[in-house]
Amino acid sequence: MIRLVPNHADQILRATKVRFTFDGVPVTAHAGETVAVALLREGQVHLRDASEDGAARGAFCLMGLCQECAVRVDGKIVESCRQPVTEGLAVQSLRRAAE
Ligand code: FES
Repeated sequence: MIRLVPNHADQILRATKVRFTFDGVPVTAHAGETVAVALLREGQVHLRDASEDGAARGAFCLMGLCQECAVRVDGKIVESCRQPVTEGLAVQSLRRAAE
């Protein structure tokens, strides 16, 4: 492959890494990311089940409008696309099997 533009990816400065859990599974993220973005990067797209038919739901708008990305943090239901990750954060999905 011929690279036409120099690769500067190794020069990108990322925020410090933090660890949180999703349904008890450790996840590594960068401080300042939202829970939704960190989970998407990990391939976790199934965040909750629809109340009507149980269909899998996950982040859609990523800007706090659709509420498809709802998860439970510290006992409260929050939009994961608006919830910043912090060290030790315990996030639970709203999947029926997880409850
Ligand atoms: S993805 Fe739409 S509110 Fe979070």
